[in-house]
Amino acid sequence: MDRPVAEALDLLTNGEIEIEGRMPWSSNATFLVHVRAGEQSHPAIYKPVRGERPLWDFEPGLHRRELAAYRLSEACGLHLVPPTVIRDGPLGEGSLQWFVDADHRQHYFTIHEQRPDLHDALREIAAFDIVANNTDRKSGHVLLGDHGQIWGIDHGLCFAGDFKLRTVIWEFAGDPLSESVAAWVAAVAGEVPAGVVTLLSDHEVDAIAGRAERLARAGTLPIDPTGRRYPWPLV
Ligand SMILES: Nc1ncnc2c1ncn2[C@@H]1O[C@H](COP(=O)(O)OP(=O)(O)OP(=O)(O)O)[C@@H](O)[C@H]1O
Ligand SMILES: [Mg+2]
Repeated sequence: MDRPVAEALDLLTNGEIEIEGRMPWSSNATFLVHVRAGEQSHPAIYKPVRGERPLWDFEPGLHRRELAAYRLSEACGLHLVPPTVIRDGPLGEGSLQWFVDADHRQHYFTIHEQRPDLHDALREIAAFDIVANNTDRKSGHVLLGDHGQIWGIDHGLCFAGDFKLRTVIWEFAGDPLSESVAAWVAAVAGEVPAGVVTLLSDHEVDAIAGRAERLARAGTLPIDPTGRRYPWPLV
């Protein structure tokens, strides 16, 4: 992040939104916008509810899941989801997420191959996806930011009640959880962060605690015996 999180959240919440264009290849209506306030201006990703493609397995309102993912990451001290808010915008209510500076040639597969120094951060995102029940961890949903910061984006398809993890991050299956990961996973198992609870159904909240508890008890990142828990496309 090139500025303090509180400032970013303030600009996201109160700035004026100007649409620059629709993101190429995005399956939902995902817009690159600029948020402006006075001299300040910063790019952001705006996903209006109205632009969502209907899905058989998720209710409309994926923007709430984007915010829930941000709040979960913050509550656990992970800082792996860019600052995100829900607000009204030019196309109605939606999520608005800080556009992070990233090397867009890099994504999970290239980072895994070229940056062994970042493998712990990748293990952390793998644990986050299990707890969040991420159904869409494509390689391109892992970004490499400044100073080796790993960011996770696109969390609209998280937190379903039924376990339906789909991810490309399987290289660390069977690895033990680090002490710090084990600690936040156990904390979520004990109590789902309040800011997350208000955004999801009771069943979805119970399911978060259940996944965290199972992960904490196992003490290792799970192995997928089916070999099928991949999103499509992979990148
Ligand atoms: N916060 C962010 N910072 C930087 N780049 C971002 C951010 N959010 C999204 N992007 C870029 O925009 C692209 C599209 O965003 P995202 O994947 O969230 O949209 P989507 O509509 O769900 O697309 P798809 O259905 O194709 O996955 C990403 O692949 C990434 O390159
Ligand atoms: Mg995407």
